Amino acid sequence: MRIVVTGGAGFIGSHVVDLLAARGDEVVVLDDLSTAGAAPRPDDGRVRHHRLDIADEAAAEVVRAFRPEAMVLLAAQASVKVSMRDPLLDARTNVTGLINMLEAARQAGARKVVFASSGGTVYGTPAASELPIAESHPHRPLSFYGLTKSAASGYLRVYREQYGLSYAALALGNVYGPRQRPDGEAGVVSIFAGRMLAGLPCVINGDGETTRDYVHVRDVADAFVRAVDRGEGDINIGTGVETSVREIHRTLDEVLGLGHRPQFGPPLAGEVARVALDPARAAEQLGWSPTVGLVEGARSVCDWLRAEAYGALEPAS
Ligand SMILES: NC(=O)c1ccc[n+]([C@@H]2O[C@H](COP(=O)([O-])OP(=O)(O)OC[C@H]3O[C@@H](n4cnc5c(N)ncnc54)[C@H](O)[C@@H]3O)[C@@H](O)[C@H]2O)c1
Repeated sequence: MRIVVTGGAGFIGSHVVDLLAARGDEVVVLDDLSTAGAAPRPDDGRVRHHRLDIADEAAAEVVRAFRPEAMVLLAAQASVKVSMRDPLLDARTNVTGLINMLEAARQAGARKVVFASSGGTVYGTPAASELPIAESHPHRPLSFYGLTKSAASGYLRVYREQYGLSYAALALGNVYGPRQRPDGEAGVVSIFAGRMLAGLPCVINGDGETTRDYVHVRDVADAFVRAVDRGEGDINIGTGVETSVREIHRTLDEVLGLGHRPQFGPPLAGEVARVALDPARAAEQLGWSPTVGLVEGARSVCDWLRAEAYGALEPAS
């Protein structure tokens, strides 16, 4: 199959590209490399990279020329903090860039679009009784990032209704795993593991009892590949299990055998207290369920960081 992957040089996207190439698809990657971590895999007979901004006409032109059967849309301004600091920048990539890609998909005659949405931000603050959150939960985003991800579901729905473009919007939990940058501002597993390996303190904001649904990138990449072929509408990709920040720290410490003690800082303003995503629809529609547990997942991050020599991290400024 011919598939365009936007954001294919990034953390999740690079794993998706590897799986698609391994199953024999012909892949064109559109990525401006603005937040991509490692150098993208070299081009070969199956995968070609174009360093382009998804909001630019040149990116739409590449899509129209390639005529993909499906598109996997992962390129995004992916930081909640940046979205609050600069909502215009956020909307330029996450709304204008999305529309540019959907127009190109339609003009190129693509059949299916798989979009990376965010289960941790589109639903807002669920009541304890609403956990794990089902897709029927109303969208009540508290950040501009969550708002643009929520708006994307609306755009995808209208493109399906008006033009018959099938879509799956995968509402992801907190994705972690190899290739997630330990020097970024998101991705607590990589950040803590990187700091522990470098002998630096880990600061837990608040009491460490806020929970998230941590899902391993190997499982997430598998969900994207499955959704190219089946599944329709909004679909949660999570484990249904809440894990606290303290537990993440404890698990990494056990894996590394360091006896590392966390430090505690003030809670982050506006943070959602608890998240877990009900994965029942993913099981039903994609035949997907998570396979990587937290200990195995934590080990995979530590192994990768060691191999990449991230243990030499300097103290964060
Ligand atoms: N990592 C998570 O826990 C998580 C959770 C929910 C949703 N998501 C979504 O999954 C997607 C991938 O996230 P990730 O964690 O791999 O982040 P990432 O930053 O590693 O990947 C995003 C990629 O998009 C590229 N990009 C950014 N703006 C672009 C633009 N205007 N044009 C072209 N390329 C651009 C970046 O260079 C990067 O390679 C994003 O849409 C993100 O919002 C991630």
